[in-house]
Amino acid sequence: MNLTIPQINGFQGTIQVPGDKSISHRALLIGAIAEGVSEIRSCSDAADPLSTLSCIKQLGIQIEEYDNCILLHGKGRRGLQEPSAPLNAGNSGTTMRLLSGILVGQNFHSVLLGDSSLCRRPMKRIIDPLQQMGANIHGTEKNTAPLSIEPVERLHSIQYTLPVPSAQVKSALLFAGLFADRLTTIIENSKTRDHTERMLGLRSVTKNGCNIVEVHSDMKIEGKKFFVPGDISAAAFFLSAALIVPGSHLTIQNVGLNPSRRRILDIFKSMGGNIQIKNEQIIEGEPICDLVVSYSELKSNLDLRGAEVVDLIDEIPILAVTALFAEGTFSIHNARELRAKETDRISAIVNNLRLLDCEVEEYDDGFAFEGKKKYLGTIIPSYNDHRIAMSFGIAGLKIPNITIENTECADISFPGFWQKLISSTKN
Ligand code: S3P
Repeated sequence: MNLTIPQINGFQGTIQVPGDKSISHRALLIGAIAEGVSEIRSCSDAADPLSTLSCIKQLGIQIEEYDNCILLHGKGRRGLQEPSAPLNAGNSGTTMRLLSGILVGQNFHSVLLGDSSLCRRPMKRIIDPLQQMGANIHGTEKNTAPLSIEPVERLHSIQYTLPVPSAQVKSALLFAGLFADRLTTIIENSKTRDHTERMLGLRSVTKNGCNIVEVHSDMKIEGKKFFVPGDISAAAFFLSAALIVPGSHLTIQNVGLNPSRRRILDIFKSMGGNIQIKNEQIIEGEPICDLVVSYSELKSNLDLRGAEVVDLIDEIPILAVTALFAEGTFSIHNARELRAKETDRISAIVNNLRLLDCEVEEYDDGFAFEGKKKYLGTIIPSYNDHRIAMSFGIAGLKIPNITIENTECADISFPGFWQKLISSTKN
């Protein structure tokens, strides 16, 4: 469906955003291989976590759902059942990569499929280290999905330094480490999101500027209660909307504030964004808060690089769109990973900014532009990428006559996004 974004007077009131996508995937997977029952509160019902849910059902996990709660009957790490058909990860890289780490330790054959976008994404980054552990996992000639996994007698523990900063790769290897013979050690030059470590209770230390995480195969995993905070990457769209639309004053409740995810708040604040953090608390190991955001005159002098880019990886599209309406410049380097997302996000952002009549310089690992006062209303392709669609939808709040194509892809991480966008106003 195509949607022309209406002009809006201001965002008001209190909203909630879907449960954190990264934490939802992990709660489902950890619950599946835990001994006994787990309870997941506020799990995201977006399409990506639903792909993980349907895969674990196919692996024999019994699920009960009631009142915003999922009860999951874990089978222990050796108790999953051989699926009778290929497992479908849909559009979800997290499902495919994390689940691979679990499937390589099973005593049955499995195949993981995905949609056309997922089947173009790089899987060598998990195939290589999993093969080093002794796993029998193979992709296509191009090292893409479908992935096929055969059982092996045993997996070996490895010490592995991640060549690309990726929480999905780290987590796949930590899961595989649960099935290996001893202690598996993962070393990151740039620390990525640490939900897996927190949720499994793993030890991590910083040494010579590196983050080192260890998992021992004899650790116990018992069913437990998980609470999924609101997704800060989803909240970022409404933070941006309220910051750029005059007359806005919006509260976003129960947003996750994990230190490896909150950098977007610091960046918006550094641009002059009026965002307050209220009611901070820790629920089942994850910090959460309410965010109160008001319209602000933004200035941008951003030159993002290195670790900053890792922390902001999912927020770059909405940050770039926000910077369109700030006085000053925006540039980003060291962001080649964006080319390996649901679509090539560097190319998608650059092409769409140019359609808006913004002069952009494109680099192999980033892009740069200067904000200006007037842009062109036009038809904007979403590239079937949820974050591209939602980000340019926010641009449409300020630029008359923006039509976003294929808006339904927002369901991947934020079902109901467009309705919430249009109804959270004082019109
Ligand atoms: C995720 C890790 C990141 C992120 C993705 C979710 C996760 O991907 O972009 O949306 O849940 O581990 P990479 O590991 O590819 O950086």
